[in-house]
Amino acid sequence: MRKKIVAGNWKMNLTKEQALELTRELVDTLGDLTEHQRVMVCPPSIHLSSVAEVASESKALEVGGQNMHQAESGAYTGEISGAMLKSYGINSVLLGHSERRAYFQENNALLGEKVDAALAAGIEVIYCFGELLEERENETHFEVVSSQLKEALFHLEASQWKHIVLAYEPIWAIGTGRTASPEQAQEMHAHIRGVLADHYGQECADGVSILYGGSVKPDNAKEIFGKPDVDGGLIGGASLKKYDFMAIVAAM
Ligand code: 13P
Repeated sequence: MRKKIVAGNWKMNLTKEQALELTRELVDTLGDLTEHQRVMVCPPSIHLSSVAEVASESKALEVGGQNMHQAESGAYTGEISGAMLKSYGINSVLLGHSERRAYFQENNALLGEKVDAALAAGIEVIYCFGELLEERENETHFEVVSSQLKEALFHLEASQWKHIVLAYEPIWAIGTGRTASPEQAQEMHAHIRGVLADHYGQECADGVSILYGGSVKPDNAKEIFGKPDVDGGLIGGASLKKYDFMAIVAAM
């Protein structure tokens, strides 16, 4: 049975003190999860080690990276590798976030390489993708999302999909306060699962957790997470506030 996941993407926010304070608060309030639930925070890479240390006091709180380089090591100033993440006990990484695509020119081909590098390092990938407002308005959103999946992920073997989580994040809903309706999220998540099923079979598709991201807040999380193909959320702004994040976790 696929898991429900709530993951917080802190993006480029919080100083060391703020990051550790928030982690401590989450550790103290999170409690136990069922075996079908996961909660994760993805801090900036400079905080990973210290956040992971505090999070290790909780059985429930996982820590993931926000990005990694596709090479094993080498002359790539400013970058971090999968082996480095792994050496700090970080077992998951976000790849393909729309901000990485827009501001750092990451495309599906490059992301395919990053996915391979992460899996080779033993790191689970949370692959982010989603359409622009313009693409939704001209009704190419299903096509765009299918290509983002196929071009970056369809070289994988079916057996590798147990290390992949998908995060559908329509770009028009990120940080805008404009959430996809629960029906729009369900429609796209069902499409995504269908594309997976066509290529890898229904059993593989049914095992993949597909998260929704884009202006998830305490007051809309429950309805969105209640849809059958929505397996949780990737949370930006609201993950920086303890009470909001915990309320969203509770909605799972
Ligand atoms: P917001 O929740 O701030 O819209 O951000 C979503 C996101 O980009 C998570 O990766």
